[in-house]
Amino acid sequence: MKFSLLGDRLSGGSGIETLMDDLGHALASSGPSPHMLGGGNPAHIPGMEAVWASRMNDIVSDPAKLRRTLAIYDPPRGNPGCIEALATLLREELGWPVGPENIAVTPGGQTAFFFLFNLFGGHDADGCVGRILFPLMPEYIGYANQALEPGLFRAHRPRIEETGPHRFKYHIDFETLNPGPEVRAMCVSRPTNPSGNLLSDAAMARLASLAEARGIPLIIDNAYGWPFPGIVFGEATPPWNDQTIHVMSLSKFGLPGTRTAFVIAPPEVASAVSSMMAVSGLANGNFGQAIAGPLIADRSILALSRDVVRPFYLQKRDRALEAIAEFFPDDLPYALHECGGAMFLWLWLPWSRRTSRELYEAIKARGVLVVPGEYFFFGLHEDWRHRHECLRISFAMPEEDVRVGLRIIADEIARA
Ligand SMILES: Cc1ncc(COP(=O)(O)O)c(C=O)c1O
Repeated sequence: MKFSLLGDRLSGGSGIETLMDDLGHALASSGPSPHMLGGGNPAHIPGMEAVWASRMNDIVSDPAKLRRTLAIYDPPRGNPGCIEALATLLREELGWPVGPENIAVTPGGQTAFFFLFNLFGGHDADGCVGRILFPLMPEYIGYANQALEPGLFRAHRPRIEETGPHRFKYHIDFETLNPGPEVRAMCVSRPTNPSGNLLSDAAMARLASLAEARGIPLIIDNAYGWPFPGIVFGEATPPWNDQTIHVMSLSKFGLPGTRTAFVIAPPEVASAVSSMMAVSGLANGNFGQAIAGPLIADRSILALSRDVVRPFYLQKRDRALEAIAEFFPDDLPYALHECGGAMFLWLWLPWSRRTSRELYEAIKARGVLVVPGEYFFFGLHEDWRHRHECLRISFAMPEEDVRVGLRIIADEIARA
């Protein structure tokens, strides 16, 4: 059998696939179960699991709802009631002037980005190649292999600020960020996976006005942001103007298995996404919208994000920072990114003799899985030492796993 070039590219393996494989094998192997600080799986929050059980009961106990959920195709754009409810929430709670024409449902954020990057990036009718710019590396590993045409991604190195002893923060380097005419869209995750960076409202406003001046969209990956799931530990208002495209997923709210996300965009973009959905998948799965639709309509999605999901992860972050303070002596050479949201600690080890990949292997051999940082610098074509000096550590897992993992990581850093 001979695959096409495109087939080879899409099936040829990727960082995200290796990561998922490693996690899967580690879980399936018969040895002592490893401490899984690698994946992006959300935590199982008891208060949220009770909500899922109650929503499922509500659906299953009503034959009409059950039929509606299991036995009917939704339109490619998504469930009209759920979309209308989300538009109303965004209008009334965030003041965005949007209606159902601004929204399209996709099978998770991952698919939304696949659609959006290839909608804007690639050859256009004039024979020019449009590119996607990531203004702040490191960025989410899952974008890395999504471009259907090779070489579509451009990326920008950050400015690094030392914010305190053993602490640092990436900033967009606006002095040197200058998207050329080939850039057709910019994209940032906020809060950022992997670094936990929370771009300030001022930085977002500056990015939005740069996009507006260039007449290109700013795609904001809201996987961890407001209004849901709200895993945000500082001030952050989601911006909106005619150039912004938000992707809001139900995954980190606790429903990754339903594969449901919403693209909120100018009508022509929402409509294009819905057409791409029809071509590639006919329609979305109904379950996520059936479970979350009523929570969106009665706004309990906001209260659950604010009062259940956010405090849960905030406490986890604080416990992880306490473990760092306990196990990482002051003379240990390390720096931690300021964690303003999401579910990760991003550790920078500029003085290590071992690369992040070597450290990852050593840590894995001791039963702890993290993610070596180099995958998250996918768009940078220049060599930069920093990309081999970082590790991503999830703190979503049970506290004891996080503590054991951090103790072993500290020990390995001390040996390096
Ligand atoms: C920043 C970011 N964007 C998008 C995704 C994709 O998530 P999903 O497809 O489950 O919505 C993830 C998942 O970890 C993520 O961390």
